Amino acid sequence: MSKKLANIGNSFCPQALFLYGTKKDDGTPDFGLFCWFSYINTMTEKGPGMGVMCCIGEDKLTKDLIRKNGVFSANLVTEDLLPLADYYGNVSGRENPDKMRHMPTVENGLVLDVPTIAESPVTLELRVQKEIHMAEGSDVFLCEISGVSMKEELMNQAVPFIDRYLSVMPVLAGGEFRYVTADGRDMGHWGEPMQELAEK
Ligand SMILES: Cc1cc2nc3c(=O)[nH]c(=O)nc-3n(C[C@H](O)[C@H](O)[C@H](O)COP(=O)(O)O)c2cc1C
Repeated sequence: MSKKLANIGNSFCPQALFLYGTKKDDGTPDFGLFCWFSYINTMTEKGPGMGVMCCIGEDKLTKDLIRKNGVFSANLVTEDLLPLADYYGNVSGRENPDKMRHMPTVENGLVLDVPTIAESPVTLELRVQKEIHMAEGSDVFLCEISGVSMKEELMNQAVPFIDRYLSVMPVLAGGEFRYVTADGRDMGHWGEPMQELAEK
């Protein structure tokens, strides 16, 4: 055989990382870090469109608020955002009411009433169409993309796509609980980049 059975995981099949933004009852934002995310075809009253599927594991504030509001944002994580993103991924919003003491620049969605992150170059605004309960602590949200916003310079097609892509500096979940950049640099184990925040 040319290959051997390995542990089930996403190693070498990297996933983009997103900060999901939801609005709490008092109107302030909560952000959590997510990678179980991919694109799907959807059908809305406007016809076929592009959507996403998001798997949310055990119960958490983000899941509570997505269920309550039916809308949320997904903000692409970049190298600059990584310490904050890693913090948002390792600190529970339910258990830490002061989680949002570290904050990016928060804006409101251009299409939906959702908190978005100004420092993130690409933001999706998502409306839940269907929730599928897979198992205890595992739910998949199928969502329509109501809007995509991006930094204006990324839309300049006079610049080759690869140059614009690299300028975004996305960080991926590459496997073995490590962050990697799109151009192949190691950015540490989950839980490491956030240590930079504590030192500030
Ligand atoms: C790199 C990374 C990726 C993550 N991806 C997911 C995911 O796809 N689904 C999920 O349910 N939790 C994921 N988490 C965990 C959540 O970010 C974590 O539960 C966080 O506390 C959510 O924020 P909240 O408590 O404010 O809702 C991930 C954590 C890390 C560090």
